Amino acid sequence: MDWGMRNRMSRIFKEDGHTVMLAVDHGYFLGALSRLEDPEKTVKPLIPYIDSLMLTRGVLRNCLDPKYNIPVVLRASGGNSILGSDLSREAITLSLSEVIRLNASAVALSIYVGSEYEHQTLINLANLINEAEDYGIPVLAVTAVGKELEKRDARYLSLSSRIAAELGARIVKTYYCEDFQKVVESCPVPLVIAGGPKMKDELDCLEIAYNAIARGAKGVDMGRNIWQSRWPIAMVSAIRSIVHEKASLKKAKDLFNSLKK
Ligand code: 5RP
Repeated sequence: MDWGMRNRMSRIFKEDGHTVMLAVDHGYFLGALSRLEDPEKTVKPLIPYIDSLMLTRGVLRNCLDPKYNIPVVLRASGGNSILGSDLSREAITLSLSEVIRLNASAVALSIYVGSEYEHQTLINLANLINEAEDYGIPVLAVTAVGKELEKRDARYLSLSSRIAAELGARIVKTYYCEDFQKVVESCPVPLVIAGGPKMKDELDCLEIAYNAIARGAKGVDMGRNIWQSRWPIAMVSAIRSIVHEKASLKKAKDLFNSLKK
């Protein structure tokens, strides 16, 4: 890895090799989700607790003060909406000159393995990596499942994650699942996990974060389960304790419960 690539990776992954990323890029196909109507209002209080922010260029430019000293991971794929027939039909939506102009630390793109547009999204990933590597910019591949949440098992996620890494992704974002260690073992680059739709109980999400880290994930890149919680700071603090402080699940839950008060 050359200096620029290493430097950008180290802005995302801290000294312990772990990271807490906050994902607020959902609007690129879901519009103004609840609690993201005013992104800055939601994001600003969480910035001290996170290591990087994953978002679109539109939200970065229009809603966040450039003085925030937080590494950003820019969403670089899209072209669909929740109303369309197939969420997998994505293209690259960002140029590398824009990524550099916005001083991003990495770019993120979704792949949809097994979908109608599998080939298109894998070629998107390869093309983005070919360009980004020239500038030392890491590409994070998201193993997206669209509306088919039931696809999230170890066999599928291991296949998608491995393909992303084989194509050159420097980071893979996937989901936690049963036998998650199989996904980790077959993926030669750092894995971070998404949270998925908001769970009823925050403690369930903490359990997922704990199990993922215990089984080899290098961090989380979560959104809704943090900022749609009634207690987002308690939530992100508890997750941070799991990711960076090796907190036990009980300690993380106790921290959440005490901060929530
Ligand atoms: C959308 C994404 C989101 O960033 C990802 O799903 C993480 O957010 P959440 O934890 O809310 O699922 O990549 O495709």
